[in-house]
Amino acid sequence: MPSLYSKTKDMASMKKNKNRQGEITMNLHTGRKLKGTITVPGDKSISHRSVMFASLAEGVSEITNFLEGADCLSTIDCFRKLGVDIRVEADMGRVFIHGKGLYGLSASSSTLDAGNSGTTTRLISGILAPQPFSTRLTGDDSIQRRPMRRIIEPLTKMGAHMISEKNNDCAPLTIHGRSLHGIHYRTEVASAQVKSAILLAGLYADGITKVTEPYVSRNHSEIMLRLFGADIHTEGTTAVLTPGSTLTARKIHVPGDISSAAYFIAAASIVPGSEILIRNVGINPTRDGILKVAQSMGANITIENVHTENGEACADIFVRSASLHGTQIGGSLIPTLIDELPVIAIMAAFAEGTTVITDAAELKVKESNRIDVMVKNLQAMGCDIEATDDGMIIHGGKPLHGACIPSHGDHRIAMSFAVASMMAEGETEILDRECVNISYPGFYADLKRLC
Ligand code: S3P
Repeated sequence: MPSLYSKTKDMASMKKNKNRQGEITMNLHTGRKLKGTITVPGDKSISHRSVMFASLAEGVSEITNFLEGADCLSTIDCFRKLGVDIRVEADMGRVFIHGKGLYGLSASSSTLDAGNSGTTTRLISGILAPQPFSTRLTGDDSIQRRPMRRIIEPLTKMGAHMISEKNNDCAPLTIHGRSLHGIHYRTEVASAQVKSAILLAGLYADGITKVTEPYVSRNHSEIMLRLFGADIHTEGTTAVLTPGSTLTARKIHVPGDISSAAYFIAAASIVPGSEILIRNVGINPTRDGILKVAQSMGANITIENVHTENGEACADIFVRSASLHGTQIGGSLIPTLIDELPVIAIMAAFAEGTTVITDAAELKVKESNRIDVMVKNLQAMGCDIEATDDGMIIHGGKPLHGACIPSHGDHRIAMSFAVASMMAEGETEILDRECVNISYPGFYADLKRLC
C-alpha cells in the first residue's frame, strides 16, 4: 500500500535540503484512504493549565496524558525556574508537580523562556504580576511579535507594573510584582488567554475580579480552577472570581486534544473511502466548533461514549468520508474553533461551493498570520481563495496540485497542509515540517499509520 511518505526518500530529501537558513524540508506523497483507530495526544490548553494551577496548589498533583509538546514543556521549564519541583516521566505523559501554594513561588535567577507559546506567556504574566519579586519573560521570534497590550492593559488596571522592553507592547516583558485589586474588565475580543491571565491575577487581588467577553472563549481555566478549589463561577459571558481560597493538589487526566483530532477529522472526511475512530477526545462545548462546522459541511461524524473527566466533556469521534459542501462561519462560533480554521480552510478547498469565514481577524496574530499564510499557500496549490479583513472566502471543489509550502514555523499550518497534500495531485513539500512538535510530536507517524 502506498504510504504517505517514504522514509528513505524522507531521509534523503532531509539531507539534501538541510540548508536554506537551516530549514529541513520533506516530500509528502498523495496518500490513500485513512483506516483504523487513533488516540491523539493530550489537550494543549489543559496541559498548560494543569502545570500552572498545580504549581500554585498545596500538595502533589499527578497529571496523566500530559502533552509533551514543546509549548507545554516551556511551561514546565518556567515553573521549575520559579522554584517548583516538577518530575516528568519521559514519554509516559505522567507528570508529578509538588505545588508551592499561592504564595510559595520564588524569583527566577534567569529570564523565563516561553518559547513559541502564547498561552505560557499570557497566563504566566497574570501569575507573575502579583508576586513579591520581578521577572523577565520572553520567547522566540514569533512570540516577540505577538500582541501583549491585551494583557498589559488589564493587568496594569489591576495595579501591575509591566514593561515591554522594546516599548512595542510585545515580549520581552519585565514584570515587577505589586499588590493588585480586583476589576471588572470587558475584553474586545473573546480570548481565553486574556481572560485566564486576568483571573489568575485575580486569585491574589483585593476584591472580586470579573471578566466579560463578547463571546465565551474556551473555559478550561474556569473548570480547572474550580476543581483545585477556587471560588469561580460564570454569569453568561462573564467569569467571576472571588479570591481567598487556597488551591489543593488534584489528579488530572488530560483528554485528547480536539485541535489535534481536527487534522484526522478533516483528512478522513476528504479522502474517499476513509473510516477512522478517534478515541477519548475533549469535546468541551467551548472547543467543539470543528464538529459543528464539519457536520454543517456534510461530514459523516458520529460522537460516541460521551463522558466527563475532571469536569471536561470527552467522547470518541467516528469519522467516515463524505462529499462536503461550503458553509458560513462567523460570530460566536469563531472562538470555539479558532485554532481549527486553517484545517477547516483545507476542508473548504475540497468542498463543493463557497465557504465564507468572517469575524476571525484574530487569525492574523497567531503563531503566523494565518489568513495570509493560508491564502498564499492554498493559492500555490491552485485553490480559488481570497483574503478578507477578518477571514477568507474559499471557492472550493477545484482539484489541487502539490506545491512547496512554507509553514513559517507554524505547527497548525504544517499539519493543515499535510492533510491537503493527501488529496493534491503530485508532490507537496512542507518547509520546516518539524514545527509540528509544538503541539503534536509524532503527527506524521500517526498520519502514516492510518494510511
Ligand atoms: C488558548 C487560547 C486561544 C488559542 C490558543 C490556546 C488557551 O488563544 O488560540 O492556541 O490555551 O487559552 P486566544 O485565547 O488568544 O484566542
